[in-house]
Amino acid sequence: MLKFRFLFVFGLFSWFAIAQECPILPTPAVYQTTNGQFVSSGNLVIDPSQITPNLLESFKSYALWSKGIEVSPFVQNPMVQFKKLTNVKQDSYSINIAERITISYSSEASCFYAWVSLLQLSQQKEGQLIFPKCFVKDYPKFQWRGLHLDVSRHFFTVDEVKRFLDLMAYYKFNTFHWHLTDDQGWRIEIKKYPLLTEVGAWRDSTVENHYSTLPRTYDKTRYGGFYTQEQIKEVVAYAAARFIEVVPEIEMPGHARAALAAYPQYACTGEAHGVEGLWGIFDDIFCAKEESILFLQEILSEILPLFPSSYVHVGGDEAPKTRWESCPKCQAVIKANGLHDEHELQSYFIGRMDAFLTQNGKKLIGWDEILEGGLSPNATVMSWRGYEGGKAAAAQGHYVVMCPGSHCYFDHYQGRGAEEPLAIGGFTSLEKVLSFNPIPPDMNTAEAAYVLGAQGNLWTEYIPNMSQLEYMTYPRAIALSTALWSETPTTYEKFFSVLTNNHFPFLETQKVNFSKSCLKPNLQTSRSENGGIVIQKTAAKGIIANSVAIAGIKAAKRKTKTVQIKVDQGPNLPSKEMNIIAHKALGAKVHFITKPSPKYDNGDLTIVDGQLGARPWKGNEWLGFDSDSVAFDIVFDKPIKVKELRIHTLHDPNSWIWAAQTYNISFSKTGVGNGIADGYSSEETIVIENIKDKTKTIHVVLYGAGYIPSGHPGAGNVPWLFIDEIEVR
Ligand code: ACM
Ligand code: ZN
Repeated sequence: MLKFRFLFVFGLFSWFAIAQECPILPTPAVYQTTNGQFVSSGNLVIDPSQITPNLLESFKSYALWSKGIEVSPFVQNPMVQFKKLTNVKQDSYSINIAERITISYSSEASCFYAWVSLLQLSQQKEGQLIFPKCFVKDYPKFQWRGLHLDVSRHFFTVDEVKRFLDLMAYYKFNTFHWHLTDDQGWRIEIKKYPLLTEVGAWRDSTVENHYSTLPRTYDKTRYGGFYTQEQIKEVVAYAAARFIEVVPEIEMPGHARAALAAYPQYACTGEAHGVEGLWGIFDDIFCAKEESILFLQEILSEILPLFPSSYVHVGGDEAPKTRWESCPKCQAVIKANGLHDEHELQSYFIGRMDAFLTQNGKKLIGWDEILEGGLSPNATVMSWRGYEGGKAAAAQGHYVVMCPGSHCYFDHYQGRGAEEPLAIGGFTSLEKVLSFNPIPPDMNTAEAAYVLGAQGNLWTEYIPNMSQLEYMTYPRAIALSTALWSETPTTYEKFFSVLTNNHFPFLETQKVNFSKSCLKPNLQTSRSENGGIVIQKTAAKGIIANSVAIAGIKAAKRKTKTVQIKVDQGPNLPSKEMNIIAHKALGAKVHFITKPSPKYDNGDLTIVDGQLGARPWKGNEWLGFDSDSVAFDIVFDKPIKVKELRIHTLHDPNSWIWAAQTYNISFSKTGVGNGIADGYSSEETIVIENIKDKTKTIHVVLYGAGYIPSGHPGAGNVPWLFIDEIEVR
C-alpha cells in the first residue's frame, strides 16, 4: 500500500508540465499567459533581417543541440520576428507569443537569452512544436553569473568542455572560469616554455580514496592532458557563440607544483619535485624573485591574445610562505622594496601582475587571499572563504565576485545519504544554493554596488570524469543561476516544481547524469515510546506525501545484533540500505554536560541511534564538539547489565577532527572503568571490555588531543571531537 502511495506521488516525475507554471529557469521577471497555444509544424521559421548572421548561426546550432529543432530563415512569413530596442535595461528582452512570436531585445546577449527562453517554452508533440501563448519580460539581476571548472586535478576534453558550456548557456550563465593550472597538472600549451606541458601536464600517480584516508595509497598510473592554443581558441569561440566569456586562471604564486616540476629554477630551492599526485597545499611555490615574475609575465603574454575576456585570474590562494621565509632572494626583494613581511611580498608579487595586466588592457582578478598584505590597485576579489574577503574589498572600492564555500562550492555533498559518491566534504544542498544572495545582509548599498555577481566552483579532486562532473553540477547550477538572474526571489517549492516538471526531463533527454538527491525521502530516527527507535520516511521537500514509519527497532536485551533495513526511495532512485546496531543503549536518554557545537548538533539521539556516521565524514551524521573535553550521561529507564562499551569517534586530522585520546567512564553505583589511552591515537573506536556492572547511568568523559600537533592542519588549535555512537553491549 505504502509503496503505491509513493509511486503515485513520484508520478510527478514522469515529466509533464503544468499549464500555468512558467517553465523557464532561471525564473523570468514577468510571465503572463493568455489562453491558447501557438502551434507549428516541427521547425521554426524566423526572420533573420533584424539579427546578425553570427546570431542566426548560434540560434540554429543551439536549437538543434537543445531541442532537436531545425531553424529556417525566411523573411516573407516568419513565425518569429525580432525587434532591436534601445534605451532599455541592459541585457533585457521580451517575448510575446500570440499569432506570431515577437522577440524584443537590447543586446546580442539578450537576444540569445530570449532564444533560450523560447526553447525552454517549447514542447514537442507528434511532430509539432507547441508554445503557450504568453508574454515574458526579463533581465538579469547580476552581471557575473559563472561556473568555474578545475581541469588540473582532473582533465576534461575539448568536447566535454563544450558540453559543459552548452548546458551553462541553457541556464543563462555568462562566465566560464577555466582553472587551467594547479599542482597536479598544467593544462595550456605555452610555446616559449614547452616543458610546461611536456612535463607539467602529466603526473605519474594519483592518490586513491579520500586524501584523509590513511594510510594513503596511489594508483601508479600516468595521468594528464592539455589543450593546445588552437583548442583553447576553439573553446573560446564556442563559448562566445553562446554568450559566455572565458576567464582563464593561471595560479600563482601557490598551487604551482606542476609548473615547477617543469621549470624548478623558478622555485625558491631550485629543486625539482614531480607533478603532484596528492591533493592539498604544498610549500613549494613560485619564488618572488624577478626571474620568476618575468617568467610568469611571458606566459601571460602568450595567454592574453587567446582570451578576449577583460579579466585574467591569477589565483593567489593558499600560498604557504615557508619557502619565502628562508629564501635569500625573496628576502632581498622584501628588503629592496621596503616590505614588512611575506604577506606584503605576496601583495608585491600580485601587484606586479596587476601592473602588467593593466598595461596590456586587462583586469586582474584573484582569490581573496590577495587582500592579505594589501590589495593591488586594480584588483577584483573573488571571495571564497566566506563573504568577508568580498566585504573588505567592496569597502575599499574594489569589485567583487562572491563564491563563498557555504553556497557556491559544488564539490561539496548535496545529499545526506552515505550512498552519495565520494566528495571533498561539506554539505551544500539544492535548497541552500537557491537561497544564496551574493550580497550579504550587512553590506550597505554603496558596497553592494561593487558585487558583480557570483559563481559556482567545481574543484575536481573527487570529480574524475564528465558523468561525475554533471552529477555535482546539476541541478545545483540551476538553483545558482536562479539566485543570480531572478530579481524576485522564488520559493523552494515553486522552483522544485518547475525543476522536476520541466528541467529534469530536459536533462534526461540530454543524457545528463544529474543528481536526484533532492528527490530522496528524508529518514528520521526518533525514540520509540516503548524503548528503542523508530525510523520514519518523509518525502523530500517539494513533494507532498504523508510520512510513514518504516522500521521499529528495540534495544538489545542481551546480545547486540545488526538489523538491516532496505528503504524504497521511489522510482528512478536506488533503494537505500541501512544497518542499525541494536545495542543495549539504543534509544536511551542522553544528558549532555558539555553541549555539542550548534554547527554539528544533530540531536542527542545521534549517539544512541544505532547508526554509524559516514566516513569520510559528512558533517550531518555526527555530533561535533569544539571543546577539549566532553562529558555526558547515558541514562536507562531501569538498571541494565553492562559488559562492554564501544565509543565510536572520528579521526580526520585534515578537517581538524581528532579522535578522543583518554577517557573516564563511571557507572552509577560502583564507578569502575578508568582507562588511559596514551599518545596521539588514531583509534576511532575505544573498546572497554570486561565490565561487569549493573547500572542505570553511564557517565562518560572523553578528553581530546589538547592541541593539534605541529605538522598537521590547524596546528596549535583545539581540535574538534566528533562522536557517532556510544554502543553498549
Ligand atoms: C580555493 O578554493 N582554494 C580557492
Ligand atoms: Zn624565493
